[in-house]
Amino acid sequence: MRLCERLRLPATQAAVLLHALQSGDTARRAIVLSPKAAGKNYQPPFPCESRERYSWLPENVFLPGEGVNPAQHADYAAGMYYVLDLSSCWEGAALSAVSSVPERSLDLCAAPGGKTMLLAARFPLKDHIANEVQARRRGILRENLLRCGVENTQVTGLRPDQWAGQGKEFDLLLVDAPCSGQSLLCKGIPNPGCLGSAAVNGNAKRQRGIMLQAVRCVRPGGYILYTTCTYDPEENERVIAYLLRRTSSWQAEEIPLLAAFRSDLCHFPAYRLLPHHGCGAGGFCCLLRRLL
Ligand SMILES: C[S@@+](CC[C@H](N)C(=O)[O-])C[C@H]1O[C@@H](n2cnc3c(N)ncnc32)[C@H](O)[C@@H]1O
Repeated sequence: MRLCERLRLPATQAAVLLHALQSGDTARRAIVLSPKAAGKNYQPPFPCESRERYSWLPENVFLPGEGVNPAQHADYAAGMYYVLDLSSCWEGAALSAVSSVPERSLDLCAAPGGKTMLLAARFPLKDHIANEVQARRRGILRENLLRCGVENTQVTGLRPDQWAGQGKEFDLLLVDAPCSGQSLLCKGIPNPGCLGSAAVNGNAKRQRGIMLQAVRCVRPGGYILYTTCTYDPEENERVIAYLLRRTSSWQAEEIPLLAAFRSDLCHFPAYRLLPHHGCGAGGFCCLLRRLL
């Protein structure tokens, strides 16, 4: 398959990816404790699996055991935790390389709220904006943040170019970009056309556009965490390569915790998770830092 060729996967890893795409059973549910649970010595009220083999997982992320549906538990409704795929937690682990607590942060593509939850689980939010352009999704975002007791956070609905025009400079931007969502197939969620060039190229163009605006919203020394839940290099490494060609004041940062996942499709530090890693459906992350 062309995707496997573009990813330059050895035959065994390509076979795992193809099987995952066809069988749709690679999702791995995780929960991240919310601010409501923080500091209370809270333990999930259901059996959880060992986190030992996931050295990059923070303490406040748990892996519900086989057969547990954490979203059906009363503590979920009470907002003690948020449910996401383990690969999202893997992407969130990139925040371990952010050198100081961000005073002002913006989650540019925030709904339904997973990345803001992961940020809140790592740093106390001081002045955070969870932004979502789609009104319906913004409503869901608002509900999730309220349920989980996320504080010091404003929900907004501006486009990236509108943010860039505001002249505000954030310490950290999260760009969990809209993408072709190829990893949805590995979770058993139908996503017709996601492997085709029209979807991939269309999304890549949108991602480049979002990133060109995002770089205008960060102070010198600040960060952008770029993530997607798709495999294609066009929407991942090549978006970052494009940005680094266009802007001389940014560099991609090493993420020591994720060293084992370093992409060999680019010369700068970027990280990709694939089904053969056994950590959920997969994703991509790259942490960028503004130098000047
Ligand atoms: C991958 S989802 C974000 C998931 C979220 N960060 C989380 O962890 O729960 C991407 C989001 O980007 C939004 N989006 C779509 N087009 C956009 C654009 N041109 N600029 C900014 N956001 C956009 C979508 O509505 C969607 O909510």
